[in-house]
Amino acid sequence: MLFDTHAHYDAEQFDADRDEVLGALPGAGIALAVNPGCDLPSSRAAVALAERYDFLYAAVGYHPENCAPYRPEDLEALRELAEHPKVVAIGEIGLDYYWEENPPREFQQQVFRDQLALAAELELPVIVHDREAHADSLAMIREFPQVRGVFHCFSGSAEMAEELVKLGWMVSFTGVLTYKNARKAVEAARAVPLERVMIETDSPYMAPVPHRGKRNDSRYVRLICERLAEIKGVSFAECARVTRENGKRFFGIA
Ligand code: NI
Repeated sequence: MLFDTHAHYDAEQFDADRDEVLGALPGAGIALAVNPGCDLPSSRAAVALAERYDFLYAAVGYHPENCAPYRPEDLEALRELAEHPKVVAIGEIGLDYYWEENPPREFQQQVFRDQLALAAELELPVIVHDREAHADSLAMIREFPQVRGVFHCFSGSAEMAEELVKLGWMVSFTGVLTYKNARKAVEAARAVPLERVMIETDSPYMAPVPHRGKRNDSRYVRLICERLAEIKGVSFAECARVTRENGKRFFGIA
């Protein structure tokens, strides 16, 4: 049984068949999944879905790409949502310098900082999105040494992954591990002890080979687990067990 630690089932790509897809997951070997929010409506939708599916948990937060409408008073709404027993993290939050049309860097940093402070206050882990912002992301999490988190869809170097492990953080890998040009992600996965690794689909995005370019869903986390097992030189069953236990420990799921 597998734990998909990052999947966006509130995304519009699932509007036509959301319940069909989610309903089929436990029968397809998916034990657990976490649905992070990207803004307030998406965080509310994530919590509503988690209420309906036992295996599904939620995180709440403002994604850097979606943070333009953020106002400091939104922290109160996030705080209220985070009280829900199925909310296991603040996320996804972070920095994205890739898209030019994203909110200005200084604003992204303010939103990230506010949500790191909220996580510290609520003693919740964080799910970090870092795209083309490695140095600033590392600097910002260092401002909150009491906060633990995961860098999801990890795209940094092996050295950065080792640095995160030293800070007590986790590193999470997607279907990128299965791509032919994935040298950097593979090197990072090699550098990190398996006890600090989680796996995720980032559905509906990032489908692993041979589904690359199509809509992703949690069933395909199996392909990521297979590839990670190969990279780490362990059996599929061992890789599935360890990454599942890592996720449960990280998110505090009994
Ligand atoms: Ni995501």
